[in-house]
Amino acid sequence: MMTKPPKGVREFYDKTAREWADRWYADDSMLPLLRRFMALLLESPRVLDLCCGAGYESGRMAALGAQIVGIDLSGESIAIARERNPALTFHEEDMLNDYAYTGPVDAVVCIAGLVHLSWEQLRCAFERMDAVLRPGGRLLLVIREGVGRQAERSDVVIDGECYDRAFYAHTLDELRETSAGMFAYEQELADTGPSVWRNYVFCKPE
Ligand SMILES: C[S@@+](CC[C@H](N)C(=O)[O-])C[C@H]1O[C@@H](n2cnc3c(N)ncnc32)[C@H](O)[C@@H]1O
Repeated sequence: MMTKPPKGVREFYDKTAREWADRWYADDSMLPLLRRFMALLLESPRVLDLCCGAGYESGRMAALGAQIVGIDLSGESIAIARERNPALTFHEEDMLNDYAYTGPVDAVVCIAGLVHLSWEQLRCAFERMDAVLRPGGRLLLVIREGVGRQAERSDVVIDGECYDRAFYAHTLDELRETSAGMFAYEQELADTGPSVWRNYVFCKPE
C-alpha cells in the first residue's frame, strides 16, 4: 500500500494559523524583548518581520514606532496578519527566495523562523537578509538552542493527516559561521538562562 507523503511547513501553518493567532494576539510576553531590541535602533526604524506568522509581533513593533513589512510562507497566516493590521504591509513569500522588492530595512526580526531551516539552508537565508539590510542595521534572531532536526517537534499529526514541520535547533556558533562575512554577532538580549530559546543580535558593519 502506498503511504501518503507528509504535508509540509506551509500546509502545517496554513492549517493551524487561525487557532494559534488568537492565543498569540493575547500573549504579549515578547514585548520586553521587542522593546530592548527597538532601543538599539534609530527612531521610527523600518523593520522586516521575517516569518511574521499572523502578524502579532508585527503589530506590537508598529505600536512601538516601527514601520513594518512582514513576510511569511503561509498564505493563511498572511491573510490574518492583513486582517488584523490593515495599515501594515505583508507579503506571502519564502525567506529563501529573493524578497529585495520589500526595499531596504534598518532591522530584521526573525522570531522562531530559522527553526524551519536546516544548517545547510542558513547561508542562503542570511544572504537574503543581507540583500535588504542597510549597513549598520541589526538582526534579532530568536532560535531554539540545540543541534539538528528535532524529530519530536517535526512530525505532527492533525485530524489524521501527517505533517513534517521541519523543525531544527541551532547554536550560536552555527549562526556565526553561516553568516560570516555578512554579519557580526553583537549580544544576547534578555538572557533566558536555561531556556532552549535564545535571542541573538547581529549587526551589519557600516
Ligand atoms: C514558529 S512560527 C513563528 C511566527 C512568529 N514569528 C512568532 O513570533 O511567533 C514560524 C513561522 O515561520 C514561517 N516560515 C516557515 N518557513 C518559512 C520560509 N521558508 N519562509 C518564510 N516563512 C517561513 C511559518 O509559516 C510560521 O508562520
